[in-house]
Amino acid sequence: MNRKHLMLAVAAAMMSQSVLAADAKVPVNLPEYKEGQYVHQAPTIDDLMADESVNPELRKVILKGYDMFMNTQQFRGEYVFNDMNCKTCHMGEGRMNWSGPVWPAVTTLPDYRGKNKHVNSLEERIAGCFAYSMNGTPPAYGSDDMLAMVAYHQWVAKGAPVYEKKLGGRGFSHLGKTIPEDISYEKGQAVYEANCAICHGNDGAGQKKDGKVVFPPLWGDGAYNWGAGMTRIFTAASFIQNNMPLSKPGSLSDADAWNVAWYVNSQERPQDPRYTGDAKETREKFIDFHKHSRYGTEVNGAVLGQHDNTGDKPFLKPDSLKPRTFE
Ligand code: HEC
Ligand code: HEC
Repeated sequence: MNRKHLMLAVAAAMMSQSVLAADAKVPVNLPEYKEGQYVHQAPTIDDLMADESVNPELRKVILKGYDMFMNTQQFRGEYVFNDMNCKTCHMGEGRMNWSGPVWPAVTTLPDYRGKNKHVNSLEERIAGCFAYSMNGTPPAYGSDDMLAMVAYHQWVAKGAPVYEKKLGGRGFSHLGKTIPEDISYEKGQAVYEANCAICHGNDGAGQKKDGKVVFPPLWGDGAYNWGAGMTRIFTAASFIQNNMPLSKPGSLSDADAWNVAWYVNSQERPQDPRYTGDAKETREKFIDFHKHSRYGTEVNGAVLGQHDNTGDKPFLKPDSLKPRTFE
């Protein structure tokens, strides 16, 4: 098979749920849930359709939110300026443990968030992923589109206890947060070329077919920006080990997952919307976040993120990122 045919075979396999399900059996070495942790079984869309207690009007709104979550590209140029959908990172329709299940935001917010140092609502948390992960700007607070998004998040949270903080499988950090001391760009590059480039491309730009994203970019203008949670090495390492290569999750060793996350997050991407004009300064200003990323550090002779490139987004800072105080 030549490369093109192999690619199409891979794409075809990807589209087939049965193949995905069969291959997905490679076990990922996830930590045991700790005693006393709440472990959620998020309801599905099938459950929604079967639940006669849900008002038909509400069902419509939840379904719209689901559609927005799965195919966020329908808002390309409006809310989204890169090649991502929400489900691109929140695997399993945002229900999968250790892959950033979205329901905990519903049950734990409003709460104080270190990232922006004020009390956030669920709408604002969703807005954050639009501003950083989608390199975009969120639907207006209180709008029909935002309501639909919130409704889908709330549906998958059904039955979970409110304000419970001991949650099993939240976030993406099953490998823990400590970057191994012997982490290596070169080894990461080798892992990338052997396991990832076939889909995500040698240049990290992903692949499109007939203008539609088939494989999302990992860096460059179409990728998550420098303020996104995925730029943190520990987040990417765990995401990758738990989900990638697609159809072979769990096949990378811990070391390979760390190294390839290091390599991917050493590449350029659209500017952090919190940019002050100087990447080193921005890094220091948001060091609690950026101590986990390589932003504002020197890699291969250049300071990562020292540029004005916002990708396809014609502005830097969305209005939704404004500070909020109650003084
Ligand atoms: C590039 C990857 C990526 C994309 C795309 C993305 N997210 Fe996220 N999302 C993350 C990461 C990383 C986190 C942080 C998880 C953590 O706390 O470690 C997160 C967290 C969240 C949370 C909070 C979950 C919690 O535990 O409280 C919500 C809600 C959320 N995202 C919704 C969305 C929505 C809605 C979209 C689409 C508009 C989206 N995300 C797109 C990576 C992504
Ligand atoms: C068979 C094709 C394929 C291979 C091989 C593959 N990926 Fe992916 N990757 C995908 C697809 C498709 C998605 C989006 C998942 C979805 O939408 O369900 C994705 C999503 C991602 C994401 C999150 C979204 C983004 O674009 O930032 C990261 C990070 C990622 N892959 C990294 C890797 C790494 C690292 C490897 C190699 C170890 C790898 N992938 C191998 C197809 C692949």
